[in-house]
Amino acid sequence: MVAVAIDGPSGAGKSTIAKAAAKQLGLIYVDTGALYRTVGYAMAREGTNLDDEDAVKQVLSRIRVTFSYEQGSQRVYLNGEDVSEKIRTPEMSMMASRVSALSSVRVFLLDLQRDTAKRQSVIMDGRDIGTVVLPDADVKIFLTASPQIRAKRRHQELVEKGQQVTFEEVLNDVLQRDYNDSHREIAPLKQADDAVLLDTSGYTLEKSIEEVVRIIKEAAPCSIK
Ligand code: DC
Repeated sequence: MVAVAIDGPSGAGKSTIAKAAAKQLGLIYVDTGALYRTVGYAMAREGTNLDDEDAVKQVLSRIRVTFSYEQGSQRVYLNGEDVSEKIRTPEMSMMASRVSALSSVRVFLLDLQRDTAKRQSVIMDGRDIGTVVLPDADVKIFLTASPQIRAKRRHQELVEKGQQVTFEEVLNDVLQRDYNDSHREIAPLKQADDAVLLDTSGYTLEKSIEEVVRIIKEAAPCSIK
């Protein structure tokens, strides 16, 4: 069994890179951001006041977040309903960022993430995987890129999906989420002391994947196929 933790800010390419690396190495890729997005979606749908701790806990007591893999890609479910596409809007990115600052939400998702890594070899990506969720991970990578590059990549992705957003809107979102994610009190985004830092600003996607695979193979040679 091997556990690889990949953390880093929004739009650093974590999911694309981690997914490709997991495929090459025969590991399960776990996108933990999707779990926060699903909780955010639930709160948005219920119109929950996020400042009201009891109201948030009420919603958490009524929802079930699960995920599965279909043809190698992760699907997420809210009370059994597949919400995999619905959680991929800029509004849900912001909701996820907001709910992820709440301790009740982080506690709610912690066991689900840990249990997943206990049952199989994983590459798990998020913000606090190497620091909180899997502090004993075999390999930890902190993946980053400049805010401009990250916004450019995410803008392209959203436009390709047919969403109408400007580059400036995406850049503002990236900066706002960076601030939220790294300034929250609980499990803020930060590099674990024993994580390898990888800045992909000047890299192509292929080069980034190659580097991640190389780091994993170097750090956990006997656990990888
Ligand atoms: O990776 P993403 O953009 O889908 O994540 C959505 C939000 O969830 C992001 O703003 C930070 C939060 N998140 C978190 O706090 N901890 C994680 N392990 C994963 C995501």
